[in-house]
Amino acid sequence: MRVAVLGATGQLGTDLAAHFAASGDEVARLGHDAVRVEDAASVRDALAAARPEVVVNTAAFHPLGRCEEEPERAFAVNALGARHVARACRELGARQVFVSTDYVFDGRAGRAYSEEDTPRPISVYGASKLAGEHLALAEAAAPAWVIRVSAIYGRVPSRAKGDNFLTMILRRAREQPEVRVVDDEIVSPTPTAEIARALRELLLADRPGLYHLACEGSCSWHELTQVLFELRGIDTPLRAARTSDFPGPNLRPAHSALESRRYREVCGHALPHWRDALAAHLASGALAEAPPRGAAG
Ligand SMILES: NC(=O)c1ccc[n+]([C@@H]2O[C@H](COP(=O)([O-])OP(=O)(O)OC[C@H]3O[C@@H](n4cnc5c(N)ncnc54)[C@H](OP(=O)(O)O)[C@@H]3O)[C@@H](O)[C@H]2O)c1
Repeated sequence: MRVAVLGATGQLGTDLAAHFAASGDEVARLGHDAVRVEDAASVRDALAAARPEVVVNTAAFHPLGRCEEEPERAFAVNALGARHVARACRELGARQVFVSTDYVFDGRAGRAYSEEDTPRPISVYGASKLAGEHLALAEAAAPAWVIRVSAIYGRVPSRAKGDNFLTMILRRAREQPEVRVVDDEIVSPTPTAEIARALRELLLADRPGLYHLACEGSCSWHELTQVLFELRGIDTPLRAARTSDFPGPNLRPAHSALESRRYREVCGHALPHWRDALAAHLASGALAEAPPRGAAG
């Protein structure tokens, strides 16, 4: 396949591009310097030059608070950007994938969401990504996929956050006398490498549409931290906190774990459990630059 990855310098984009290339695909890595998704001409020109058969759009404006403050920008990038990409794909006859989020849900169901559940975003970010999903599918001519992911972590940090959850927590464990993490927000932590593998499988299966791609099981951020500390042998005290302990509006869904039901149906197997995926991520040396407390001497 000839694949173009938009947002190729990002956490997910980096691992997607690496996995496609390692699988023998020809990959055009298009970072923000090459494409501004909110600019239709920039999208059209970059994709026309790359002539991809598949375009994966991971580009996003996703800091939650900034999306509330700059809703025009959030919708320009996350919603209209998706439309520009879909239109360029239509001109090229390329298949497209739009990467979306668990934040399209309000989190009030108290269980994991499947593809059949009705989205109800509670933030500008979630609303702009949901609009992006609709526009990506509405403008598509060739087959199109929307994949929703949750609580991702990769080999490189999130460009927008400068960290991912694991690297942020490991840094705090080194620098602070104790670590406090919320236990009332439930997610499906998933390594970007697993998403890359699963997405390529889906493309080969050729059954377009909406998919959740998240590891099996779910946990609170506190439980994720507990398991991370166990696996890394970290003894920094870990305390449970509530989201209400922190100031400001809560824009995060309380329970936004994703059930990857359609992936299981189409591919005949599940993604790994989040605990196994976390252990494999650590075993791969992906966090080698973040030594356990005391180990740096
Ligand atoms: N992080 C999570 O836990 C999470 C959870 C659910 C869903 N998602 C979704 O997953 C996707 C990937 O997230 P990520 O963590 O990999 O993000 P990331 O590390 O911040 O990477 C985003 C990429 O998009 C590029 N980009 C930003 N604005 C752009 C624009 N206007 N035009 C073109 N490129 C632009 C960034 O380049 P620069 O950095 O140079 O601007 C970067 O390469 C996003 O669509 C996000 O909504 C993420």
